[in-house]
Amino acid sequence: MAILKMEDLDLKGKRVLIREDLNVPIKAGQVTNDTRIRAALPTIKLALQAGATPIIMSHLGRPQEGVALVDQPEASLAPVADYLGKLLQVPVNICADYLDNPDNAIPEAGGITLLQNVRMNMGEKSNDDDLARRYAALCDIFVMDAFGTAHRAQSSTHGVAKFAPAACAGPLLSRELDALERSLKSPEHPVLAIVGGAKVSTKLEVLENLAKVVDQLIVGGGIANTFLAAAGYNVGQSLYEPDLLHSANSLMEVTSIPLPEDVVVACEFSESAAAQVKPVADVQNEDMILDIGPRTATSFAKLIGDMRTIIWNGPVGVFEFEQFASGTRAVANAVAANSGFSLAGGGETIAAIDKFGVTDDVSYISTGGGAFLEYVQGAELPAVAILDR
Ligand code: 3PG
Ligand code: MG
Repeated sequence: MAILKMEDLDLKGKRVLIREDLNVPIKAGQVTNDTRIRAALPTIKLALQAGATPIIMSHLGRPQEGVALVDQPEASLAPVADYLGKLLQVPVNICADYLDNPDNAIPEAGGITLLQNVRMNMGEKSNDDDLARRYAALCDIFVMDAFGTAHRAQSSTHGVAKFAPAACAGPLLSRELDALERSLKSPEHPVLAIVGGAKVSTKLEVLENLAKVVDQLIVGGGIANTFLAAAGYNVGQSLYEPDLLHSANSLMEVTSIPLPEDVVVACEFSESAAAQVKPVADVQNEDMILDIGPRTATSFAKLIGDMRTIIWNGPVGVFEFEQFASGTRAVANAVAANSGFSLAGGGETIAAIDKFGVTDDVSYISTGGGAFLEYVQGAELPAVAILDR
């Protein structure tokens, strides 16, 4: 792909409109996880240091288009503006009327502007051209840096790139794409993918695409139950998908998928459920599989240790409950201890990595959830494709 990079452009004196994904969790007006905000800082600092006029835009949540902020105050990016100001130590102008009064989008010298939630604008989600033209009119250069939203073709991620005088990729987007390419297109072998989560059906294309490129595939959570059932084991009351047994068998023919030899079961799904370790062949009709067992955790950890590239999405057990957390903890520690290249993505995976304190030991943690999965399943990211011209 021939994509212009922000680093290669002369930004001095230019109005630079940067699309970030600042869609972060907010509770009672406070940012509760700042990963995406911190990931965007190098891009914003680059613009400031280069003497550009930075105008940042993002969505937050899924508000209603055309409905005023007073009627949906939870849609406001104001807490993010405050947070950005504290981290950057520069004035942040949060601007709501930028479509009608574009001059208001210009920050004071040395400061930045954060445009209010783009998803409140009529036409944003349908990628309306008129709206895209109005975003484009705010800038000399459009910088697409929102990897987490690159799978959405919307006015602020896709349309704007068509009409802006220049459009390029920001450093965060470039880093994300490089990490994905390094893991999937030109990886050092052996390559392992760990895919957990509730359902095979939601990740079937991800599994199929990975099976073609990896040497080993570890499946976890409800996904593993479907593979166990396909291999002929009784999975009791566990979540599994009978319709997908055939798909599971086909995947096991294409690539090596080691199945758990022991599991942690309970009779109910709850924080206080009594956990019991069993060989997988001893699972009873009333049992629910909620984690891998200790023997499996040890053998998966050994396997992980032998790999040179690891792609991780999804926990292997109900790690939120302590008695079912050991499997995911063992996986997290083994990924952290691996000296090769490790890439992790998706909200639950990042929560697990955070919980087990190994954030600094994973080579690259993606800011994308849906976008990460779309890329891994081989889909084109429209907001990246539009930059390629
Ligand atoms: C996300 O958190 O998944 C991204 O910010 C994209 O948001 P969306 O799924 O509402 O488009
Ligand atoms: Mg999403």
